Amino acid sequence: MARKKLIAGNWKMNGLLADGVELAKNVVLQVKAMGKPQCEFLVCPPFTLLTSVKKALRGAKVALGAQDCHMAEKGAHTGDISPLMLKDLGCTYVILGHSERRADHGETDELVRAKAEAAHKVGLKTVICIGETLAQRDAGKAVEVCRNQILGSVPADSNATDTVIAYEPVWAIGTGKVPTTADVEEVHAAVRKVLAQKLGKSVANKMRILYGGSVKPGNAKELLSLPDVDGALIGGASLKAEDFVAIAKNGTC
Ligand code: PGA
Repeated sequence: MARKKLIAGNWKMNGLLADGVELAKNVVLQVKAMGKPQCEFLVCPPFTLLTSVKKALRGAKVALGAQDCHMAEKGAHTGDISPLMLKDLGCTYVILGHSERRADHGETDELVRAKAEAAHKVGLKTVICIGETLAQRDAGKAVEVCRNQILGSVPADSNATDTVIAYEPVWAIGTGKVPTTADVEEVHAAVRKVLAQKLGKSVANKMRILYGGSVKPGNAKELLSLPDVDGALIGGASLKAEDFVAIAKNGTC
């Protein structure tokens, strides 16, 4: 089953207008220079940059996504952004349940699932993040934690078109530390098994599972050549267009 790799940039809370647009334009140039890439590209800037980045991406094969959304379509939710608003701006994806949101905003699996259901309802694709902390890994619980997060965060009617999973060990995010390839493949294979139990084998075989956590041009090849790794969710290295696109190239996209 050939799954098209997704190379996704999570800009997090970075970028003002001028440098965000510049970064997007550079990504476009680099992606265009690749000719016919075999992978799909996605950038997820902060809310404030979505409109201007959308303009900068015009005509390029780079999708636009947001980093979070609310579960309601509209209403009295001061400071929040609805899935419909994101769709209206031209987003096709939204990242949900990133560990920084789970930690900083107390987001639970149930909340992440409700947000994902709302996003799917308006036609947005979701990148649902899971991953264990260092203490959980040290306790031998990485697979169990990811299993529970999948069971709790992924909507029951998710399919391989509207949902992407991102496995991001919390201890690997922004630290330069990366699990061994054997550990990454072990979790990815286990996640696919859980997806098969939850959504059926055919959906699970088609659903993309990204790896995230200190992905750089230098480690892209070994990570992206693992059988169950279908792309990358990239934080720090996505803030440099050359590095972001080099990850795709080195990952044989
Ligand atoms: P990182 O972040 O690439 O900077 O480790 C990844 C992420 O949090 O999505």
